[in-house]
Amino acid sequence: MTTVLLTGAGGFIARRLAQTLNEAGMAVLGASHSAAALPGYGRVFPASLGETLLPALASRPVDAIVHTALATGPDAYRLNVEGASRWLDEGRAAGVGVQILLSTLSAEAEALSDYGRAKWALEQRFAGADEVALRLGVVVGDGGMYARMRSSATRLPVTPLLDGGRQLLYVVGIDALCAVLRDAITSNGAGLRGRSWNLVQPQPVTLRELIEAMQRQAGRRSLLLAVPTKPVLAGLKLAESVPMIRLPVSSSNVRGLVQQGQRRVDTDWERFGQPVQPLEALVAAAQAR
Ligand SMILES: NC(=O)c1ccc[n+]([C@@H]2O[C@H](COP(=O)([O-])OP(=O)(O)OC[C@H]3O[C@@H](n4cnc5c(N)ncnc54)[C@H](OP(=O)(O)O)[C@@H]3O)[C@@H](O)[C@H]2O)c1
Repeated sequence: MTTVLLTGAGGFIARRLAQTLNEAGMAVLGASHSAAALPGYGRVFPASLGETLLPALASRPVDAIVHTALATGPDAYRLNVEGASRWLDEGRAAGVGVQILLSTLSAEAEALSDYGRAKWALEQRFAGADEVALRLGVVVGDGGMYARMRSSATRLPVTPLLDGGRQLLYVVGIDALCAVLRDAITSNGAGLRGRSWNLVQPQPVTLRELIEAMQRQAGRRSLLLAVPTKPVLAGLKLAESVPMIRLPVSSSNVRGLVQQGQRRVDTDWERFGQPVQPLEALVAAAQAR
């Protein structure tokens, strides 16, 4: 039986992926920062980025690792790059068949966000080790960044939109993503190794179109208020300097959104054999969960 280890086991994508892999008859182990018991996992091992994965790797032969863990906070760049690189090396030394990094379209050497630079550095390590990186846009489903956006777009009477929401977003549905990951594990990464793939639907949508679709599905309308980026960034930076304040969005997120939102990318969607879904259908599927 194929055994897959998911890092960041309690996260949005990992929880959904564990279900998909179970349905495909695979055994799933988890490595978790918070180490709670989780449905869909045979066993969950405590492991934060910076710590070892060896107890999980020694528990039984592991065929694949999907790296979903993502540290946040002031030391996130170092934790993510050093921590996931260590896990990559430990997996290779343990003879794991294929390792897949979940990266982002904003991964760039010169990205304005720490997040984008950390993912870029990791992509180089995974490519150099002949493993696989999948660059995602907004993953549409019942968690992660998408759910945070939906929550503020459908609960607040006023939804602020940076620069009127003109930024371009590329999307991928959670079910399509999990199907691609399942197939990549089944084929042991055949044809995907040594590079990064843009796993997003070919046509971008604007942030405003996405927010409006979320509101239509939820049957909620709120005032969409265009706000200029500069004062928002200044406010976030000020709030981040106060240790007791926890924010749903960081200045790094906003810088990344602005940089990324001006670009068109070539996607590798056709390579993966998944149907393109209209925005309305993706949003409805996420709403139904
Ligand atoms: N969702 C998206 O739209 C999207 C878009 C582009 C790329 N991605 C990438 O896909 C991956 C998964 O995204 P997601 O939406 O599932 O994120 P998520 O829900 O935030 O899950 C990330 C998980 O990382 C783990 N984690 C947090 N701090 C950690 C630390 N210090 N050490 C080890 N693990 C830690 C946590 O797992 P436990 O709960 O088990 O502690 C957390 O649940 C991320 O790497 C992200 O960059 C996601």
